[in-house]
Amino acid sequence: MRFDVFSLFPDVFHEYLNSSILKRAQSLKVLEVHLHNIRDWTTDHHHTTDDTPYGGGGGMVMKPEPLFAAVEDVLGAPPSCPVILLTPQGRSFNQKIAFSLAEYDRLALICGRYESVDERVRQHLATDAISIGDYVLTGGELPAMVIIDAVARLLPDVLGDPDAPQDDSYATGLLEYPHYTRPPEFRGWRVPDVLLSGNHAEIARWRRQEALRRTFTFRPDLLSTAALSRDDLSFLEALGYQPDVPIPPPTQN
Ligand code: ADE
Repeated sequence: MRFDVFSLFPDVFHEYLNSSILKRAQSLKVLEVHLHNIRDWTTDHHHTTDDTPYGGGGGMVMKPEPLFAAVEDVLGAPPSCPVILLTPQGRSFNQKIAFSLAEYDRLALICGRYESVDERVRQHLATDAISIGDYVLTGGELPAMVIIDAVARLLPDVLGDPDAPQDDSYATGLLEYPHYTRPPEFRGWRVPDVLLSGNHAEIARWRRQEALRRTFTFRPDLLSTAALSRDDLSFLEALGYQPDVPIPPPTQN
């Protein structure tokens, strides 16, 4: 899969892309990331990429011309693949969207900077707009990196364990159970006995219950769409879960 990233600060990507799993994905040739500096497509002497907003107000707005020129030069006009604008005003990124993006052979990511990007970029160049959360960052570079990371680990052969993405928190509809490794006791804190017991059925049962307990504690809103067995429901009801009482999503708190 190939990502084309359009940014005013393409250098910030190198260190992360050249580490750990993303480095491995690129050496396996399942991932390519092409970084493009939007400033290279400016035509004026000062290489201007931003200007003041029509209508007044503070902050600067990214100009449309260098962005259209950059994307159309690299991807053709109209662009040959989805073009995603990273913006706090986009749809909220989640694991489901990561799975759907991993189906594409190629994706373009536009990183906004300054106060905003000229609306004509969003309307006539971008085919999608994604936010990574309800907070405002100084630019779209970290969001682009988040998307590349979340999508790359779903590509074939990138993770050592091919089943891992299916077991992840959110893929199952529940938060994941707690993990422990050696030593069995650290500063007096013991690993739960069941995990040392070798009893696989009991371990599976404990893990399921701890996933349910965590989800109930931290993300009860996920329980309304998770696939729950009768045993799951009795366990949750003993914790105080009431399936018929709607739970507001955490962002509304
Ligand atoms: N740019 C600034 N903040 C952002 C966010 N939360 N998501 C995506 N792009 C952004």
